[in-house]
Amino acid sequence: MLSAVRRVASANPAAMMRPLTSLTMTSAFSTSSSAYAPHNVKNITVFGSGLMGAGIVQVAAQNAFNVTMVDLNPEALKKGQDIIASSLKRVAKKQFPEDAAQQKEFIDKTMGQIKTSTDSEAASKDADLIIEAIVENLKTKQQLFSMLDKVAPEHTLFCSNTSSLPIGEIAKATKRTDRFGGLHFFNPVPQMKLVEVIRTEETSQDSFDSLMDVCTRMKKTPVSCKDTPGFIVNRLLVPYMMESLRIVERGEATPQDVDVAMKLGAGFPMGPFELADFVGLDTMKFIVDGWRKEGKIDDNLVAPVKLLDDLVAQGNFGRKSGQGFYPYNGVGGKK
Ligand SMILES: NC(=O)c1ccc[n+]([C@@H]2O[C@H](COP(=O)([O-])OP(=O)(O)OC[C@H]3O[C@@H](n4cnc5c(N)ncnc54)[C@H](O)[C@@H]3O)[C@@H](O)[C@H]2O)c1
Repeated sequence: MLSAVRRVASANPAAMMRPLTSLTMTSAFSTSSSAYAPHNVKNITVFGSGLMGAGIVQVAAQNAFNVTMVDLNPEALKKGQDIIASSLKRVAKKQFPEDAAQQKEFIDKTMGQIKTSTDSEAASKDADLIIEAIVENLKTKQQLFSMLDKVAPEHTLFCSNTSSLPIGEIAKATKRTDRFGGLHFFNPVPQMKLVEVIRTEETSQDSFDSLMDVCTRMKKTPVSCKDTPGFIVNRLLVPYMMESLRIVERGEATPQDVDVAMKLGAGFPMGPFELADFVGLDTMKFIVDGWRKEGKIDDNLVAPVKLLDDLVAQGNFGRKSGQGFYPYNGVGGKK
């Protein structure tokens, strides 16, 4: 999905403004420094071994962090391990196309950096950084962090990979709001270079610097954003996709023509309907409904669109369900 934005941004000189932006953001927040300065994060514990958690674990392990992947049960952990194993195979083949021995060495070394656990408490004992990538539910995330706050070392930084929930609200479940931030990775994590680093008004300078440093050591490009709905990428993308739906609902153009228009007229690699099918129409609806409830975004931008609500009610979620604006075959390709 978001590779669209990445390519446009890299072709745009405005993207060069990032260092200035993060500097300005930094000075806009309080710089109260915490007593803990875990700049040298070595051990990362990731909660959730789904699509995002597994990707984050892989990228951390590939870049020499010691990683522990935690999920609720062994079956979920196995799924995460399978995601990582097949992704690593692809990376190894690309990095060492002619050398099977080197491919194996790379895969073994990376897998050697990863431990798995279903014991949340034990898995947090040595963590310098905990990254949460579990279900998108505020109460569930707060419960997890409230428990972790009691068992993790004082210096341990906490962060959430949430796409749509306020980081400050999740952080409230802990007593370490100065050591709490957001690390918003993009799907698929091993391929997408961007990470949005979210700083609440209470995130300390040390914590923020440490999160930026971790992203760089993971060979990602971090950008800084305040704790606002959708951060940067989704704040721009979701209203754009909603307006595309309105164009179709008003009968002004077909989804196919809108997609062609944005690809050939704006240089986007995917049209908004292809993108919506990729993200998942249920996910889009979940985000828009949540923002509308929160009331922090102009009502017109997040006004409900019947076309979207109907498709979701029919179970047509896009690529993952086999039908959205386009039909898909079993492996997610367009029919
Ligand atoms: N999917 C995306 O494109 C995307 C992109 C950016 C951010 N995110 C965010 O990342 C997070 C995870 O999304 P996902 O797509 O990987 O979800 P997913 O459903 O693929 O995986 C979630 C995993 O969390 C596990 N889990 C649930 N509760 C747990 C707990 N208390 N302790 C440990 N594990 C637990 C589940 O068993 C599951 O394996 C969400 O907050 C989502 O908003 C998703």
